[in-house]
Amino acid sequence: MPLSDQRVLVTGASSGLGRALSVLLAQGGAKVVATARRPDPLEDLAERHAGVETRILDLLDPEGIQALCADAGPLTGAVLNAGVTDVGRFADGSDALDAAMIETNVMANIRLARGLHDALEGGRLVFVGSMAGQIPLPYQAVYSGTKAFLHNFALALREEWNGRTSVGVFEPGGIKTEMTDIDALATLQDHLADPDEVAAELLAFYTSDRAIRVPGRLNRLSAHAARLLPDATLARVMERIYRRD
Ligand SMILES: NC(=O)c1ccc[n+]([C@@H]2O[C@H](COP(=O)([O-])OP(=O)(O)OC[C@H]3O[C@@H](n4cnc5c(N)ncnc54)[C@H](OP(=O)(O)O)[C@@H]3O)[C@@H](O)[C@H]2O)c1
Repeated sequence: MPLSDQRVLVTGASSGLGRALSVLLAQGGAKVVATARRPDPLEDLAERHAGVETRILDLLDPEGIQALCADAGPLTGAVLNAGVTDVGRFADGSDALDAAMIETNVMANIRLARGLHDALEGGRLVFVGSMAGQIPLPYQAVYSGTKAFLHNFALALREEWNGRTSVGVFEPGGIKTEMTDIDALATLQDHLADPDEVAAELLAFYTSDRAIRVPGRLNRLSAHAARLLPDATLARVMERIYRRD
């Protein structure tokens, strides 16, 4: 279906990958239902790009998710992109932060997928996961777990909904966004991908019927190479790469 006939819900549209994707969708003629918590960046997005309507949505609020699903209107697709992480030693983290991460990255996506099930019939549903869903990521252990959940969840749902809604999971490596603009990831900054380039790959994935996409040739090579190693060895290699002592 041409983008000009589409109306797409995007979560996490106030910054980073979600914003870049919303811009590309709108430039292609799609209507975009852009959601996030912060009103200012959403309003800025809508002012600059025709076809963008905004909804304030806190993914930690199940009733807010329910209300959005009930009155989102006709949709041809959804890109469930919003996510959070916490970088550092697991032992230094907190239950509260991890619970919020699981609620945002996992439960909110479950609620949205179920709530939008009818609206998305005949359309496309894309989850934004991460390479960290395929490769264990020490020092972001809970985040890595949430993205591994999304990987299996999306592929399982794809088969259940086969022929009715096309489900896929998009799994980027590091991107230069607010999420990675933190001291703990300072040494990685030169290796992070441009969000506009990743968004272009996300748009191509959204308009396809593919199941999984790791954007970037080098990332795809790494993901293939990672599969050749036993999981425990892979996790050990990743720990060496991300250790900050
Ligand atoms: N950056 C990377 O290196 C990288 C790598 C692989 C995968 N990813 C994934 O890509 C996706 C987008 O991340 P990004 O890099 O673009 O990060 P980002 O710039 O920090 O964007 C995160 C988005 O999620 C929204 N969000 C966070 N908590 C929310 C909540 N409780 N309710 C509603 N919206 C919420 C934020 O909006 P508000 O704060 O306005 O609510 C923001 O729009 C995430 O799923 C992330 O895990 C990122």
